[in-house]
Amino acid sequence: MTGGPLRSAGWYAGDDRNSYIHRAWMRRGVPGDAFGKPQIAIANTASDLTPCNKHLTEVAASVRDGVHEAGGVPLELPVLSLGETQLRPTAMLWRNLAAMATEEMLRANPVDGVVLLGGCDKTIPALLMAAASVDLPAVVVPGGPMLTGHFRGAPLGCGTDVWRLSEEVRAGTLPADEFARSESAMIRSKGHCNTMGTASTMALVAEALGTVVPGVAGTPAPDARLLEAAHGTGRLAVELVAADRRPSTLLTRGSFHNAIVALAAIGGSTNAVVHLLALAGRLGVELTVDDFDRIGSRVPLLVDLLPAGRFLMDDLHRAGGLLAVLSQVRDLLDPAALTVTGEPLVGYLDDAPIWDPEVIRTRAEPVLAEGGIAVLRGNLAPGGALIKPAAAAPHLLRHRGRAVVFDSIEDFHARIDDPGLDVDADSVLVLRGCGPKGYPGMPEVSNMPLPAKLLEQGVRDMVRICDGRMSGTAYGTVVLHVAPEAAAGGPLALVRTGDVVALDVPARRIALEVPERELARRTPDAATVAGFANPARGWERLYVDHVQQADTGADLDFLTGSSGSAVHRDSH
Ligand code: FES
Ligand code: MG
Repeated sequence: MTGGPLRSAGWYAGDDRNSYIHRAWMRRGVPGDAFGKPQIAIANTASDLTPCNKHLTEVAASVRDGVHEAGGVPLELPVLSLGETQLRPTAMLWRNLAAMATEEMLRANPVDGVVLLGGCDKTIPALLMAAASVDLPAVVVPGGPMLTGHFRGAPLGCGTDVWRLSEEVRAGTLPADEFARSESAMIRSKGHCNTMGTASTMALVAEALGTVVPGVAGTPAPDARLLEAAHGTGRLAVELVAADRRPSTLLTRGSFHNAIVALAAIGGSTNAVVHLLALAGRLGVELTVDDFDRIGSRVPLLVDLLPAGRFLMDDLHRAGGLLAVLSQVRDLLDPAALTVTGEPLVGYLDDAPIWDPEVIRTRAEPVLAEGGIAVLRGNLAPGGALIKPAAAAPHLLRHRGRAVVFDSIEDFHARIDDPGLDVDADSVLVLRGCGPKGYPGMPEVSNMPLPAKLLEQGVRDMVRICDGRMSGTAYGTVVLHVAPEAAAGGPLALVRTGDVVALDVPARRIALEVPERELARRTPDAATVAGFANPARGWERLYVDHVQQADTGADLDFLTGSSGSAVHRDSH
């Protein structure tokens, strides 16, 4: 307990005209002594246009109860919300805007601590980045995954099975009307995607970081235990203020180490890399893209979930959840890293049994001996590129092939199914102009659909290279997050159709086999440059001018770091 004055006293303490104004407009039935209590914001990303988070208003009600019970004042703060499936050109374009807006509103308002309610892909990362930069005591309640839907007797994995079924239609093995009928079965309940996509990944990674009450992440959205956890987290938020436990003291390099181990053991989304790098940048924690390979690439994959495996988030929760997973890799975790409760993460692993060893494997019988993300380098990606070997076809992990190059996603769609396109199973599909600046916003397009004529021949995977991201629910031999991107002067802009590209994942190498002298002579074609975004105004212009590359988390240059929670000068 620090016992210092509350931050909100900067608004409410005293009896001058300004404190009168701050109190009077907030009263509306609130008793006078409320203004001396901890003011807990509930940053709520519920929105009709973010369907995965729509139920968070119900979750917020339970948080409120807990805050009240512990002697605090709950204050719901609707914040900019990002619906992954609806937003164009990509929700990622607004991750930094959501983080910035949330940070600013937390700082500008009379609040002492915050409960962060997120779920859909970008929402938890944006909330954590905001909390780090305003550095108020903060705790996350993840909204939880949806229940498993079924179609014709088989479970459906959100996202993953959309890609799979649509490829089946293109391959002629599933009638289009059957595909359409699966649509209403795909989303069974409230909650976020039930595969190990980005939403599931970021909820579990947030728990491994220490920002969620241990054991809560992964609780399905309709499960009554989520509301119980939200109630308990409301109480905890009041304690966090009393203990002055802030992101700057809670989140250390050890916290990120644990997050990376967890990311690998669960087989989490590649998107976690940009989100964790951006969060570390807010906190001033030294973290590089290479840390993901160094710390994570040899961690065993223990969770058998789609997209790479068989089960869904509901099954993971039933089988013991993240703590059961981490209990198997306890020796790889940093024992000093704390959680929001004040206890170390490893302290929660003594009693974390696996209830279903099919879903969560033991260390002795992992799904794969090495489950993490590999970082590739070479003349095609001097700043690095990622691949998730567990999601790739083993025979393609060492591969040489001729590039077939596309300058934009529109160019790709226009030509990929052309029967005359010179492409075979050994070709390497290259898509550029999809990085943070180029698109803008680094969309999830890297897992390019395969040419229809090759699908018909039974080809199910090819090497693909892109400066964009891919959905956490996607799979395939995809080299992505190539840095620097083509639109930022990266050598990806210089590749020509017919050039030989060599991928060697065991050697962590991605090379364009074109002599250096020849490469030095090349400049990007006019068509390539025409594929890069050049917005005239607004957020997109600001974003393109200031966004950094994927290898440092694609944050805006002026948003890295923290401005703290100091109270601004008065408004009157
Ligand atoms: Fe919201 Fe998948 S679309 S979590
Ligand atoms: Mg996504």
